[in-house]
Amino acid sequence: MNRSDLRRAFAARQLAPPELLDVTPSTNPVARARALAGAPHGTTILALAQTEGRGRLGRRWIAPPGTALTLSIVLRPDLPFARLPIVMLASGVALARGCGAPCRLKWPNDLVAPDRRKIGGILAEAEASQGRVAFVIVGMGVNVSAAPADLPATHLAEVLGRTPDRATLAAAIVRELLDQLATAIDDPASVHQAWLALDATLGRRVRIGEIEGEAVALGPDGSLEVRDDWGGSHRIHAGDVQMIS
Ligand code: BTN
Repeated sequence: MNRSDLRRAFAARQLAPPELLDVTPSTNPVARARALAGAPHGTTILALAQTEGRGRLGRRWIAPPGTALTLSIVLRPDLPFARLPIVMLASGVALARGCGAPCRLKWPNDLVAPDRRKIGGILAEAEASQGRVAFVIVGMGVNVSAAPADLPATHLAEVLGRTPDRATLAAAIVRELLDQLATAIDDPASVHQAWLALDATLGRRVRIGEIEGEAVALGPDGSLEVRDDWGGSHRIHAGDVQMIS
């Protein structure tokens, strides 16, 4: 992936040219700095390599250079901060649809292969101003041609049987994200439905922290409802799902 491939792929999807960094600690703080300097909605930062890639819940995101897609997008939806969950739902849907493979979503926003091994994830960081969303940085990492050996993980090349072009992939995901978000703002139910159509969590027995039971519903606010063995219902807003069955 080089700068001219990226420009071409983004132009083909009516997207502004992205910024490509050779190496950076993490694309999310770079995108945040651009947002604070006034970068517009849709500004996209990619890196060929990250030295301190970050995952959810304080974890690291590690990908050997050249094997992954690592990008962060600045979003400026005109929304009350309380409606932030639709940005999260739209991001997951965009990643799953844009990846060009029969991938699904594991709550809250992991991209998984049909056999539920992890392929990618999202680290979203939002900033509020006077009760409204000032901007959201949506950081996405996708294993394209390699996966960490210490996790139940795989990569797109394995699922597709060929290695996809990373510039084309990035443009498809960003286009989906902007389109999904525009739709979600006017019609939040549609993005909720779209997420459900890609879901790989509901109906399964899960453990999230101390709670174990069946994942029974996804709330419109992106929360997961888990019913425990005593019939108790737990609405979970953040955490890591371990699938037991
Ligand atoms: C997760 O699965 O825990 C989320 C992983 C998010 C990784 C991406 S790679 C691009 C962006 N920059 C980062 O440091 N993290 C996100």
